Amino acid sequence: MDLFAVLRAPSQVLFGTGMAEAAGRVAATHGRRVLLITDPVIAGTPGFGIVETALRAEGLDVAVCTDAEVDVPPAAVDAAVALGRETQPDVIVAVGGGSVIDLAKVTALLLAHGGALSDYYAVNSVPGPVLPLIALPTTAGTGSEATPVAVITDAATAMKMGVASSHLIPRHAICDPRLTLGAPTTVTAHSGIDALSHAIEGYMAAAEAPSVDLVLSRPQIGKNGLSDTLALSAAGHIAANLERVVAEGDDLQARAGMLYGSLLAGIAFGNSGVSTAHALQFAVGAATHTSHGLGTGLLLPYVMEFNRPARPDDLAALAIAMESPDGDVVGHVHALGQRIGLPASLAEIGIEREDLPKLAEASIGFRRLIDNNPRPLGTLQLERILDAAWHGEPARLKEEEAVV
Ligand SMILES: [Fe+2]
Repeated sequence: MDLFAVLRAPSQVLFGTGMAEAAGRVAATHGRRVLLITDPVIAGTPGFGIVETALRAEGLDVAVCTDAEVDVPPAAVDAAVALGRETQPDVIVAVGGGSVIDLAKVTALLLAHGGALSDYYAVNSVPGPVLPLIALPTTAGTGSEATPVAVITDAATAMKMGVASSHLIPRHAICDPRLTLGAPTTVTAHSGIDALSHAIEGYMAAAEAPSVDLVLSRPQIGKNGLSDTLALSAAGHIAANLERVVAEGDDLQARAGMLYGSLLAGIAFGNSGVSTAHALQFAVGAATHTSHGLGTGLLLPYVMEFNRPARPDDLAALAIAMESPDGDVVGHVHALGQRIGLPASLAEIGIEREDLPKLAEASIGFRRLIDNNPRPLGTLQLERILDAAWHGEPARLKEEEAVV
């Protein structure tokens, strides 16, 4: 295959312990007025204090919005945009997990271009640059500090919707592992395995035929050389540190390894896209109200097993990157999920077996994600994946493969 690569990423990435102190000087390059967005919990953490102090030390006018909430509900968007209209910021600074950074992205969008968020649901409908955004993640993570996507809750339907545009990529990603030190064990485990799912799904993404139209009409364009390099490295860092950081949340080195892996995974899937584990999770999460990372992490090994016939070489490369015992990366991912406390099956989180066709039907609606799967699938195949996950046995897909 000819070499083909695309990279759209923050124009500046600062990674390392101590880097949060750079927030003030970086913000000052954009102007004097800052809108600082976070949530009520993060607002009380030492990490947030470091960022706020750094901004004030530069003499900047800082308006603080602590209204961010999980899944970015309309009330949070309204509050942040209202404070922005009042204070007219030159730059937005986000300190928090994925929901905080996604709120900051859509606030930067609405302050620059007006309208309602539903005006921008169509891919690439953001007309031009948004307010400059500095993202400082406190989890590892969604990778939102590096991606063109914001996931929000639609005001009319209460469904999760995505806004995707290269203009939403934060201008600066400042990743300081100290900011992730306080994350609770469950958040650390679920967001960490979600980052692994970004690396693996980003690496396994469908390979599109390269064209100018492809690369310019979509922010996420499928498998390519640069996202592959980043995704493999991300998978390695996450595999080496996830169990360690779940067992010992104060281990700054392990926190750093996870944040680095999550950043690389974010840049990777920010360009290539994620796929079926995410499509299935949107349906499973809506039905069970379990966390995003719990769902993607639980479903990931089943999707990998289903895709094995289409991408044996990719799975072999991931096994090497992750140092999988016996070269079995699917078994490795499944066992890793169990060791960090993921539920053993969909049955365990309250899904009934007769619900599976309905969930498959709901998942197929996430066309952009389903179309990014390396092996074509319809509702029947999604049901097979869900059935294996309901039993908690990835090998069921292997057996079926032998029969088919
Ligand atoms: Fe995810």
